[in-house]
Amino acid sequence: MSLITVNDVSKRFPLPDGKGEFSVLEGVSLTISAGEVVALLGRSGSGKSTLLRIMSGLIGPSDGRVQFKGAPLVGSNPNLAMVFQSFALLPWLNVQDNVELGLAARHVERTERRERALKAIDIVGLDGFENAYPKELSGGMKQRVGFARAFVLEPEVLFMDEPFSALDVLTAENLRGEIDDLWNAGMFPSKSILIVTHNIEEAVFLADRVVILGSKPGRIRGELQINLPRPHDRSHPRFKALVDYIYSVMTNPEIEMTGMVEESNGRAPIPRSTISPFAKALPHVRVGGISGLLELIVERGEALDDIPLLAQTLQLEVDDLLPLLDAAVMLGFAEIAEGDVHLTAIGRDFATTTIQRSKDLFRQQALGRIPVLSSIVSTLKEKKNLAMRSEFFLGIWDDYFPIEEAESQLATAVDWGRYAELFEYDSNEGRLFLPGN
Ligand SMILES: Nc1ncnc2c1ncn2[C@@H]1O[C@H](COP(=O)(O)OP(=O)(O)O)[C@@H](O)[C@H]1O
Ligand SMILES: [Mg+2]
Repeated sequence: MSLITVNDVSKRFPLPDGKGEFSVLEGVSLTISAGEVVALLGRSGSGKSTLLRIMSGLIGPSDGRVQFKGAPLVGSNPNLAMVFQSFALLPWLNVQDNVELGLAARHVERTERRERALKAIDIVGLDGFENAYPKELSGGMKQRVGFARAFVLEPEVLFMDEPFSALDVLTAENLRGEIDDLWNAGMFPSKSILIVTHNIEEAVFLADRVVILGSKPGRIRGELQINLPRPHDRSHPRFKALVDYIYSVMTNPEIEMTGMVEESNGRAPIPRSTISPFAKALPHVRVGGISGLLELIVERGEALDDIPLLAQTLQLEVDDLLPLLDAAVMLGFAEIAEGDVHLTAIGRDFATTTIQRSKDLFRQQALGRIPVLSSIVSTLKEKKNLAMRSEFFLGIWDDYFPIEEAESQLATAVDWGRYAELFEYDSNEGRLFLPGN
């Protein structure tokens, strides 16, 4: 039975300076059925929280519709509860009162409130802490209160927005396991769970179905059934195959997601683009970060080509590792297939040669493969003094991105361009110019 149906939903937000709108979600359709755990996976900024807020009725879509059990959703849905990454507890209320809050808002009378809250507190393993205040609790305990506060409402659907992301690794692992146990034991207070995460292993561990949201604007790229017996065993070969498959999809925006994991997913041809070179976002990483990562892969050899393992070894969040890999792929230093990263001959050379030769290689690759950098160079060449105010370029990026993002694009282009000795930047005058001037 379908509980929540999202039909062709788009969401646009106004740009801060009144210059139109930018699109966060486009044409999203999704169904959440009773009895399933769904993970919504996407990089930060892809619109996951926005989609969750739309699905819960907290904000409306710009286009499309949301239904709950076949009826249009009007206002916030009382049949669902939400657990937040930030816990969102009221510091002046103790555990008991924090948990009772939602019931009080629903005018449940006092005795029943007490009883239900005690039960929820018990389920999350916090009995004995009813009178404690949030500041006396560890992060993991605070999030247990977050769960109790949602459980006490006995919602038909539970939404969780990166509920384990603010916790340290062990605490997160622990709590995640307990939530999974409750679900597997049939003791969960709701009929289905939708969890938002950027953590691929977490998604494969918890979910029956993983939906992948692509970025800028957020679109559903596809979904994957996690057809493993519950609890999902991380050492099962299929677990690893699924994780690798998702990594390969998330590191390559061009891959069409078939959901057929056994098949080797050959790279789709990259369509030639006719859009402005400024519209394609550079990943925000410094050249030093890219070369550092490549050096490490060269030194560790084949042992480190598995991306999940690489993330684990470097103790990097996926969100931090993926942009580095994106940059390496963009520059032709690495290739990614089925969750493994392989350095190209040029990448290997770049990581191991002298600084001057690294710069030469970087320049060659940047000019050949990063259109925005060659576009800046040719613009500068057009000018008699071979210089241009950086605001000129910022203005172009600003047509494609919100202003903070435009500024980050400029900063990254300057970092890469300077390293490659393609152009120089005078920060006092805010000017870009060709070397030798
Ligand atoms: N109320 C809002 N007004 C303007 N922009 C917003 C608003 N909410 C989210 N955004 C923007 O929408 C994009 C997606 O945000 P979000 O849904 O929080 O992504 P995620 O949860 O995947 O990290 C971001 O660029 C964010 O800045
Ligand atoms: Mg979010």
